[in-house]
Amino acid sequence: MPAILVTGASRGLGLEFARQYAAAGWRVWACSRAEAPDLDALAAAWPAVTLARLDVTRHGMIDQLAAALDGEAIDVLLNNAGVMGGSDFDAGGAAEQAFGHSDFAAWERAWRTNVVGPMKMAEAFVEHVARSGQRRIITLSSMVGSNTLNTTGGLYGYRSSKAAVTAVMKSMAIDLLPRGILAAAVHPGWVRTSMGGGKAPLDVAEAVAAVRRVIAGLTAQQAGQLLAWDGTILPY
Ligand SMILES: NC(=O)c1ccc[n+]([C@@H]2O[C@H](COP(=O)([O-])OP(=O)(O)OC[C@H]3O[C@@H](n4cnc5c(N)ncnc54)[C@H](OP(=O)(O)O)[C@@H]3O)[C@@H](O)[C@H]2O)c1
Repeated sequence: MPAILVTGASRGLGLEFARQYAAAGWRVWACSRAEAPDLDALAAAWPAVTLARLDVTRHGMIDQLAAALDGEAIDVLLNNAGVMGGSDFDAGGAAEQAFGHSDFAAWERAWRTNVVGPMKMAEAFVEHVARSGQRRIITLSSMVGSNTLNTTGGLYGYRSSKAAVTAVMKSMAIDLLPRGILAAAVHPGWVRTSMGGGKAPLDVAEAVAAVRRVIAGLTAQQAGQLLAWDGTILPY
């Protein structure tokens, strides 16, 4: 039975990843930083789902979980947890991050969550991944982190954090390929979650099914790339 560890599984894309991988017969380590009724219900319905408390900005918690899972094989480490760095999209998050309005405390939270969190997770869980059959480390980044695709400006905190984590995943892919580990950044599409808002074109189930296909089909040539939910390689 393959295994996945997913961060930020309380809601949105992370909860749906946990649901779909469990339904596909995977063992799921579903991490949330707080009590999450929907996740509790999922774990009650699927015995292969194990819940873990994890805030990805708290490195001691990450080390403790890695130690608790010592000896386990994790086929896919999925860094899903992320924040906009301020309000979500429909609550005016983009306007809040316009030039002249920077909330630098929120920037720092976004960087600790979106950039440092995935790196710390990878360092803590690399041996669990190396022990597995599939050996993948995936971080949900975003096309808004692509300089080439940036035609609208703004969104400084979130955009820079996603650009940075895409760069982190590129270095990680180079460093870990000799161990047979494939690392990549994936843009899940613009998805109707609290972060993505109601106008997003993709629903959560559709986006997660598509990203699962990308993860399953990941090749050594794609490692280190920013891959979209439909499998296309996005420019950085
Ligand atoms: N939705 C989109 O259109 C879109 C597009 C591109 C990329 N993404 C990326 O996809 C990922 C998931 O996004 P989403 O749309 O599902 O967002 P969401 O609905 O806002 O969910 C975010 C998840 O991250 C968790 N989280 C936040 N900070 C955390 C921390 N410090 N430690 C652990 N968990 C934490 C949240 O937990 P709580 O419930 O405790 O807050 C929640 O489970 C993010 O990395 C996001 O940047 C989303």
